Amino acid sequence: MDTVNIKVILGSTRQGRFSEKPGNWILGELQKRSDVSAELLDLRDYQMPFFDEPVSPSYKQEEYKNEAVERWRNKVKEADGFIVIAPEYNHGYPAVLKNAFDYVYPEWNKKAIGFISYGSAMGARSVEQLREVAVELQLAPIRNAIHMPYDVLVATGKGTPEAEIFTPYAERTTGLVDQLLWWTKALKEARQKSA
Ligand SMILES: Cc1cc2nc3c(=O)[nH]c(=O)nc-3n(C[C@H](O)[C@H](O)[C@H](O)COP(=O)(O)O)c2cc1C
Repeated sequence: MDTVNIKVILGSTRQGRFSEKPGNWILGELQKRSDVSAELLDLRDYQMPFFDEPVSPSYKQEEYKNEAVERWRNKVKEADGFIVIAPEYNHGYPAVLKNAFDYVYPEWNKKAIGFISYGSAMGARSVEQLREVAVELQLAPIRNAIHMPYDVLVATGKGTPEAEIFTPYAERTTGLVDQLLWWTKALKEARQKSA
C-alpha cells in the first residue's frame, strides 16, 4: 500500500499554548515511519468564524465561501487519519477545536483518529468527550492514547528540554502510532474498495 496521510491537529490556539510542543514531537515521530506522510495542522492558520453556515456540512456539496474554511475542509479531505492534541478547558475540549470539527462532515468519515492530552486529570475528560464527537462524525476513535500529567506543563515552564519531557512516552507513542496506522490502513483499503 502507498503511504498513509496523517494530520496532527493542534487543539489550542491561545498565546503561550503547550499543544504545539507535543504536536511537533509526535509529528517528528510520525516522520520516522516510512509508510507515513505527516503534516501538522495549526488552527491558527485557519481563522474560521464560529459556525454560521445555512446548512449542515453533511449536506454541503459546493465550496465554502470562506477561504479559511475551504482550505480546512481540503486538508481534512486529504487525510487518511488524525492525531489530535487535546488540551482540557473546564473539563472539556477547547471551543476552537469543536468549531473546526463542526465545519466539515463527509471528509472526516471512515477515518481513524487518536488523541494526545495533558492536564490535572491528564486530559482524559477532554479526550472522552472528543471520542463521542468523533463517532458522530463517523470517525473511528482508537483505544490507545497518550495522557500526560500537569507536571509536563510545569516542567516546560521551568525550561526542561522537550526531548526530556517526551522521551518517557516513547513506548506509549509506539503503541498509539502502531494502532492508529493499523486502523488507518484498514479503513483506507475499505474506502477504496467501496468507492
Ligand atoms: C480556559 C482554561 C480552562 C482550563 N481548564 C482546565 C481543566 O478543566 N482541567 C485541566 O486539567 N486544566 C485546565 N486548564 C489548564 C490547562 O490544562 C493548561 O493551561 C494547558 O496548558 C492548556 O493547553 P494549551 O496550553 O495547549 O492551551 C485550563 C486552562 C484554560 C486556559
